[in-house]
Amino acid sequence: MSDPSDAVLRAEGLVKRYGSVTAIDGADFDLRRGEVLAVIGDNGAGKSSLIKVLCGATIPDEGTVWLDGQEVRFHSPLDARKAGIETVYQSLAVAPAMDIAGNLFLGRERRRKDLFGTLFRTLDRRGMRQEAQRQLDALGVATVQNIGQLVETLSGGQRQAVAVARAAMFASKLAIMDEPTAALGVRESSMVLDLIRRIRDSGLPVVLISHNMPHVFEIADRIHVHRLGKRVAVVKPDDYAMNEVVSLMTGALRLTESGELVDQKAELNHRPAE
Ligand SMILES: Nc1ncnc2c1ncn2[C@@H]1O[C@H](COP(=O)(O)OP(=O)(O)O)[C@@H](O)[C@H]1O
Ligand SMILES: [Mg+2]
Repeated sequence: MSDPSDAVLRAEGLVKRYGSVTAIDGADFDLRRGEVLAVIGDNGAGKSSLIKVLCGATIPDEGTVWLDGQEVRFHSPLDARKAGIETVYQSLAVAPAMDIAGNLFLGRERRRKDLFGTLFRTLDRRGMRQEAQRQLDALGVATVQNIGQLVETLSGGQRQAVAVARAAMFASKLAIMDEPTAALGVRESSMVLDLIRRIRDSGLPVVLISHNMPHVFEIADRIHVHRLGKRVAVVKPDDYAMNEVVSLMTGALRLTESGELVDQKAELNHRPAE
């Protein structure tokens, strides 16, 4: 079954159970062209579980996923990567003892060829460094001085910039970032947010999971609100106040089909006695 919508990535009716825990409870999702879509929700709402399905790390019990209109069934993160989806995980996903170029090409090392096009076993370090520098320049990662610098000598923000740049380099369809600014200070966060904005502007849509509402309101084109294992609302940051979106997240407010906010508690209190 193909997907008639124009979404880059779409999912419908996802379910994932772990024993008696239902981590994903009938969740829908859609990511559109050219956007940063923020995914927000309380701790335990099921954000990471949802993202794991979309990046191939978890196989759902139920539901369908479409990439560019075609149904996909990922059985591993490698499947999703081959399909053009790169993920930056919550933990800083870099190899500290390697240099920046090495990190950018980790798992995708280039090897040298001889005149006949036969592959040498030796790594094409010069080629990788040049390409790494070109990509970092293109993404405007000016903070990194030397591509041969060991990642363990970089600041947290610079490391995260390397992880984010790596995703942007290799993703052909979209990049998913799980809390990329969680461990960072104010200045470093804004550097990573700028980078995400440039990635979006270069044409690669981004899914951003974040707890930080100011960051979400600063950068998201749309906000997917996740609660109790499912999507309960999608809003544009310009249309609602931050405290209203937080109330959607906690369940104090509910969004109607026509986009009105309804007080859940008042609704319960005013229910006529049976
Ligand atoms: N591998 C797992 N085994 C058992 N329970 C899990 C597993 N992964 C997630 N859960 C449970 O599913 C729910 C959603 O978790 P999670 O997706 O991590 O939420 P979030 O990222 O929004 O904090 C939680 O109750 C969590 O304990
Ligand atoms: Mg999580």
